[in-house]
Amino acid sequence: MTVQGIPSPGSGLRLHLNENTGGCSPRVIEAIRAMSATDLSAYPDYRRDVPACARHFGVDPDWVVLTNGLDEGILLTALAVFGRVHDPALEAIVPVPAFDPYLTSTAAVAARTIKVPPGPDFAFPADDVLAAITPHTRLIVLNTPNNPTGQTVPRNTIRRVAAAAPHATVLLDEAYVEFADGSFLNELPAHRNVVIGRTFSKAYGLAGMRVGCVIAHPDVREAIRAVTPVFNMNIVAMTAMHAALSDETFLPRYVAQVRESRERLYAACRRLDIRHWPSSANFVLMRVGDRASEIVTALAAEGVHVRDRSRDPHSPGCIRITAGVLEHTDRAVAALEAVVAAGMIAAGGSR
Ligand SMILES: Cc1ncc(COP(=O)(O)O)c(C=O)c1O
Repeated sequence: MTVQGIPSPGSGLRLHLNENTGGCSPRVIEAIRAMSATDLSAYPDYRRDVPACARHFGVDPDWVVLTNGLDEGILLTALAVFGRVHDPALEAIVPVPAFDPYLTSTAAVAARTIKVPPGPDFAFPADDVLAAITPHTRLIVLNTPNNPTGQTVPRNTIRRVAAAAPHATVLLDEAYVEFADGSFLNELPAHRNVVIGRTFSKAYGLAGMRVGCVIAHPDVREAIRAVTPVFNMNIVAMTAMHAALSDETFLPRYVAQVRESRERLYAACRRLDIRHWPSSANFVLMRVGDRASEIVTALAAEGVHVRDRSRDPHSPGCIRITAGVLEHTDRAVAALEAVVAAGMIAAGGSR
């Protein structure tokens, strides 16, 4: 039987979906336990939730739409941009390799999608993206740090792309920005065509709750809100969001571990002669060579689930490993060492 979603790989460490490998703040569990039956039986009222989220991001509540995970924010943005026009010539630009929902969302709204390949070492292809902009462009998706490469889009490039396409919406997906060095949020007021997407799935460990948001100038925000289901956020998820935001110690502690875990993964790759790319997110992309999918299976047999990205465009032989709790990273490194010891990755052969 096939069901919707991505099936769980079963027991073992989940280092394949860039979740928070340490769970969430204990305050979230306490807050959910304290909920009552009538909390659950009433439709939610977002008058406390939207301002709390806006306060966290330092923006006006009028700029925020809460979304059922950022996945929904991506789909709703595509729907807001393309859903009410029936012009098959209109285009979306998506640099690749990319997070799959950009392509499924633009396909869902029948937008012509222009895929732009990366530069050397997965550098953001700024000139090629700028060159791909036409009068038909209506959506440009930028993802910084990028999933699956971990690379960032330079701030000035975001400005240039936004300025070059005033007739288009620029969706700036910052799902992993807590692990990087700074958000574009402070510049948002200067760019009316930019929508910033954020999520509580990664840094805050609420992936199972589905809490995200999009932030944009009210003109753009209004178009997104117009296609948003009226009760898209459930009350348990909203309770979790407030509790997560009340715990100021959780985030810095986890981010510190992610940064150290990335270093340990780089060090292991250097030791094992595995090509890898320094990442600004909570995962590291590495090239293990022709046997990538066999290696993913072998790592799973060692109790470590990682993601096969070898079929992504421009990513032959690549796998992606989530960097989270240090102990989990050490187990991933030990599993990687076992795979190398078994001769599955030829020394230098992954280059
Ligand atoms: C780049 C990127 N954007 C958005 C998301 C979606 O996050 P959410 O769990 O909030 O739907 C992910 C999740 O993996 C992601 O990698």
